[in-house]
Amino acid sequence: MKIKNICCIGAGYVGGPTMAVIAQKCPEIKVTVVDINEKRIAAWNDDDVNNIPIYEPGLSEIVGEARGRNLFFSTNVDEAIDQADMIFISVNTPTKTYGIGKGMAADLKFIELCARQIARVSKNDKIVVEKSTLPVRTAEALKNILDNTGNGVNYQILSNPEFLAEGTAVQDLLNPDRVLIGGDIASEKGKEAVQALVDVYATWIPQKNILTTNVWSSELSKLTANAFLAQRVSSINAMSQLCEVTGADVDEVARAVGKDSRIGPKFLQSSVGFGGSCFQKDILNLVYISKSFGLNEVADYWEQVIIMNNHQKRRFAGKIVKTLYNTVAGKRIAILGWAFKKDTNDTRESAAIYVTDYLLNEQADIVVYDPKVRKEQIYADLEYLGTHSLEEIKERVTIVSSALDASKDAHAVAVLTEWDEFKKLDWETVYKGMLKPAFLFDGRRILESKTKVGIGFEFYAIGS
Ligand SMILES: NC(=O)c1ccc[n+]([C@@H]2O[C@H](COP(=O)([O-])OP(=O)(O)OC[C@H]3O[C@@H](n4cnc5c(N)ncnc54)[C@H](O)[C@@H]3O)[C@@H](O)[C@H]2O)c1
Repeated sequence: MKIKNICCIGAGYVGGPTMAVIAQKCPEIKVTVVDINEKRIAAWNDDDVNNIPIYEPGLSEIVGEARGRNLFFSTNVDEAIDQADMIFISVNTPTKTYGIGKGMAADLKFIELCARQIARVSKNDKIVVEKSTLPVRTAEALKNILDNTGNGVNYQILSNPEFLAEGTAVQDLLNPDRVLIGGDIASEKGKEAVQALVDVYATWIPQKNILTTNVWSSELSKLTANAFLAQRVSSINAMSQLCEVTGADVDEVARAVGKDSRIGPKFLQSSVGFGGSCFQKDILNLVYISKSFGLNEVADYWEQVIIMNNHQKRRFAGKIVKTLYNTVAGKRIAILGWAFKKDTNDTRESAAIYVTDYLLNEQADIVVYDPKVRKEQIYADLEYLGTHSLEEIKERVTIVSSALDASKDAHAVAVLTEWDEFKKLDWETVYKGMLKPAFLFDGRRILESKTKVGIGFEFYAIGS
């Protein structure tokens, strides 16, 4: 079975880049990305490809090449579903904020709405692909809805979790370590559907990197991968605290440990804590699933990864307050970086939000600079926490358009995103413009301590 027409529901950080790459690599397949968010679709269709809503290195060029040829962005969800033979569901699956499982379970209402819409619209057989990260056995619920509310159409459900990392999404999609496809491999129809998706990816990815398995293993593998990655960050962050009190240096420890081929060097960078829309939500989801099966020890084990991460953010903010003579009230603190990591404009669960909120509780005046994040987003992120009113936030938080502006007359500068431009900043000029003593807090360990101390800064890096 050859796929000719793909629809992707959800034009976000996963749906947009993933479909752009499929469209670029498979010009014979028509790919339509749909979303109910009209503003987002309008931005994907902006004449200037530099204005697409998601910043990822290399993405604008790919969209520029494929858009209008075989890549389309639309709000007409029904039409795209109707025409497609394969439908990716790539909508958000946030942590539930209400009812049973509040604060832990994945909120599957958007997924269910998609399933009901597919069931209502479809007139011919479809392959439905779970691209969103989902609790294990969600495919069962999807199939139930599709089979019981549909028009007698046959559906095959595949799980094809996305492993891309924001900031390197395009590279990750072009050269993935692996693509994982789960399907009903016990049946002929299921095998056919899996093969159809394998054939799409095999256009540019070597067959040996395309893994096929059953649906449950595929769904659980994604949660497991994120849990393991986050666990490494929390593990090295736990050691960072121990380094600080013993005189060890966390980078040296990471270097020594990472040389062990059983451990490996990646994801051993200590920081103010991981952010992003996925790690926390997916681990909470894992904790919730474990608890619901009565596996309390398993749940507690993974929950500790989150507890450590929250502690690291609080600890960093606390260090700022303590170092500034136990009060930051009325003091100007520059926050450099708002995105949860470099090379993305995504701010979801960014450490900067929580550190700033903590400092606002201490009545600090905050000045923020980030090269890619819009002002409104920063205010929305702070307001979303519900700790401070928008009015209060706007009064105390100023957003500026350069790191030098942010640090002017500041008591302290805190680096919270590892943007390359902060490494290359003219730190002498930053120092000159600040109040003295000038405090510099490196939450990402991107700055060399010796040169900063040489300039005159009171310098603190996590883990030293
Ligand atoms: N962001 C990542 O790095 C990443 C990586 C791997 C997997 N994931 C997973 O992929 C999924 C999507 O993540 P994202 O970051 O792209 O989310 P996102 O919030 O950026 O995008 C989701 C989009 O879906 C749209 N949407 C929701 N309901 C819809 C509906 N019924 N019809 C049409 N559109 C609808 C929303 O308007 C939104 O634009 C999540 O499950 C996430 O866990 C994300």
